[in-house]
Order: sequence, then structure tokens, then C-alpha cells
Amino acid sequence: MANSLSDLIQHRGLCQMILVLGIGGSFPYGFHISVINYPSLHIRRFINETWIQRYGSPLRQETVMLLWTLIVSVYGIGGFLGSAYCGYLSTKYRKKKCQIVTNLIMLVAALFMGFSKMVKSFEMILIGRFLYGIGTGFSLTIHPQYVGEISPKKLRGFSNSTVSVFLTLGKVSGQIIGLRELLGNESLWPLLLASTGLTALIQLILLPFFPDSPSYLLIQKDNEDAFMKAIKQLWGDRDHQAEIDDILKEKAAIKSTKSLRVLEVFKDQSLRWQLYVLVIVMTTLQLSGVNAIYFYSFEVFRTARFEEDLIPYLAVGVGVCECLSAVLCSCLIERFGRRMLLCGGYVLMIFVLALLTMTLSLQELLGPFCFLIFLGILVFSSIFIYLFLPETKGKSIMEIKGEFNKLNFGKSQAVDTENNLSKEHTLCTKF
Ligand SMILES: *[C@@H]1O[C@H](CO)[C@@H](O)[C@H](O)[C@H]1NC(C)=O
Repeated sequence: MANSLSDLIQHRGLCQMILVLGIGGSFPYGFHISVINYPSLHIRRFINETWIQRYGSPLRQETVMLLWTLIVSVYGIGGFLGSAYCGYLSTKYRKKKCQIVTNLIMLVAALFMGFSKMVKSFEMILIGRFLYGIGTGFSLTIHPQYVGEISPKKLRGFSNSTVSVFLTLGKVSGQIIGLRELLGNESLWPLLLASTGLTALIQLILLPFFPDSPSYLLIQKDNEDAFMKAIKQLWGDRDHQAEIDDILKEKAAIKSTKSLRVLEVFKDQSLRWQLYVLVIVMTTLQLSGVNAIYFYSFEVFRTARFEEDLIPYLAVGVGVCECLSAVLCSCLIERFGRRMLLCGGYVLMIFVLALLTMTLSLQELLGPFCFLIFLGILVFSSIFIYLFLPETKGKSIMEIKGEFNKLNFGKSQAVDTENNLSKEHTLCTKF
């Protein structure tokens, strides 16, 4: 622990950059998903009122609900488009530039949402949400890559885990600011929606003071001066020869930079197992049941007979717990490695879901057996991860590639492919 603390102090520049990347990266995503729940009633009323003012007749309940659902879901559509194009854009242009554009998109989105009430247009909320979705689709793609690329090997796990720390921090902040007493009330909700632009503004101002990722500067730009300068700013004034050698090796391996189309990624045998693991881990993240827990949290607290007024605060408690566990994970990851924390987390969730199912089935109320599906998924994934995910702690990109090549090509051929490096590409998808 003392050791890693001194590591962090030595890498002061890196820590500052992690903060700046987080604040405009996964934070706004988390913030926006939780914040939108609070003004729901006010926005629905606002839609109805604007309609009456414009056309002289009220809207039917279903139409209001339809518009509200559209407002909620258009965020996801924007997010999908954003993340689909981002891989392509961020290989073509610098990540830093892409991130700054992202900030601008988010700011415009926040202005649209913030002024919607003033100009009496609920369509502006719709547009704002859509733009914001695109923005978070971008930032959620760029943030983990960028933060991984600026880290030395020994801190990469820590750096990557800050993505979820900022995400959960965003969720909690949204839950808190969305409370009635703060901005989640009838008169201040436009300000609540506009507040989602604040972090984008902060990042927009601070990011230009930080460098592009060192590996980008060296591999794609071939600019050794800028590379050394970036390393110095991020990792301090020490000897980083071993890390530099790793990046040089990676550079030597990548002769041709070529973007892969989605289909090519699926066909490429050298990427087969990376793809399997990625799909399983990401799917499990969505299907682990955590969303259901959030969705049901109000119900669960109601069933436990907490007072209605108290429930929003209890929900904040749930958010705080998630955030704390993300922080805990970032402290543990360099010690225990990725595989162990991932599997350990799954096993813990299996245990909790089993417990939850038992408790709820005693009440017969919520259809508790829905959690059994999640439980099954978790069991499958933890076995899969245990068997097939190579530990990546402390390994360079090339070493990790080597591990996967053992799976992709079988042990004997892996050596051949490592020598046959000319067909390595930089990864990126192009729609
Ligand atoms: C819309 O507003 C009118 C007038 O205040 C009200 O009678 C009606 O119930 C509202 N409709 C909905 C769906 O809230």
C-alpha cells in the first residue's frame, strides 16, 4: 500500500490527467443516467402545459407518456451512434481532439436542455438528450482507451479502474443533486438538466494542458520529442527505459496501420479469443442484475416498510455502496490482478442474488425468480473467465497479445505468429 502510494506521488502528472479524463469521461454518463429519473414528473407536466399553450388542448396521458419515453430512450440511440462511430474517429483523429469535440457536443446538449423551459419547447429536451447520448457514447469509448494508454504497465489496472470509479461517482452525484431539496424540484429542473454540462466545461478548459497518449505520439506520429515530453510530464523525471522499450517493441510490430471493418474483426483469427472474452465480460456487466437491483430498489425498500420520503435517500445509499466498491477495487487491482477480482466479484454477486431470491420469495411479491436468470449468467461467466481470461496484470500489450495468440492459434503456432508480425494492425472498427 505504501509502495503504491509513493508510485502515485511519483506519477503526479498521471494522477492529474486521470482526474481530468474522468471528470469529462465516464462521470457525465453516470451522472446523466441517474439525474434523469428525478425531474420525470415535472417534465411530463411541462410537456402537457406547453401543448395546451400552443394548441389550446391538453394531451392525453398516453401521448405524454410516449413523448417522455422518447426523451428517455433517445439518449440510448445517441449513445449507440456515438460509440459506433467513435472507434473509427479516434483512430483517425487524436483522442485528445475527439474528447474536446465531445465536450463541445455535451455543452451544446446541456444548453438545449437548460433553456427548454424558458423557450417553452420540450423538443429541445429531446434534441439535448440525443446530443448528450452521442457525447457520452464518444467519451465512454475514448476514456478507457486514453487512460490505459497514458499509464505505465504497473499502474494500468489502477488507471483503468478509475473509469468505473468516476462512473459510479457520477451516478451518486446525480442522485444527490437530483433530490428535491437541491435541484430536483418543479422550478429548478431545467438547471438540473443543464448541470450535466458543467463537467464537460471543466474538462474543456483543463484537457489542453495535458499531452496526447505517449504510444500514439510515438507509434502513429513518430514524434520522439513529443513522446519524451509526454512521458516526463505524466510519469515524472525518472528512468522509464523498460516502458519505453515495450512501446518501441509495439511500434516495431505494427508495420501497417489499417482499420478493420466490423466483419473483418469477426473473421480475424488473431482476434478470436479477445472478442469472445470481451463479449462475455461486457454482456455479463449488463446482465449481472445490477440494473434490476437499481430498478427494484424503490420496491425493495417499500417492501421493507421504509417511509416513502426516506426512500430517495436510501437509493443514494445504494449508489454510495457501488461507488465505494469501485474505489476498493482500484486499490486492490494491482495487488490481486484482474482475473481474480472479476471472478471474485461474480461469485460475490451469485451469493447475494441467491440470498435476495430467498428473502424475496418469502415475501412472494416481486417475482423474485427473475434474479435466478442473472445468477445463471453469472455462474457461466465466472467459469468462462476463470478458464479463458489470461491475467494481464503487469504485462505489456505485446505480452498480452502473445497470451491470446496461444488461445487463438494453439500453443505450438503461437511462436510462429509472434515472429510473423507484419500482419498486426491497430484495432479500430469502421462502420
Ligand atoms: C394536462 O393538463 C390539463 C390541464 O391542467 C389536465 O386536465 C390534464 O389532466 C393533463 N394531462 C395529463 C396527461 O397530465
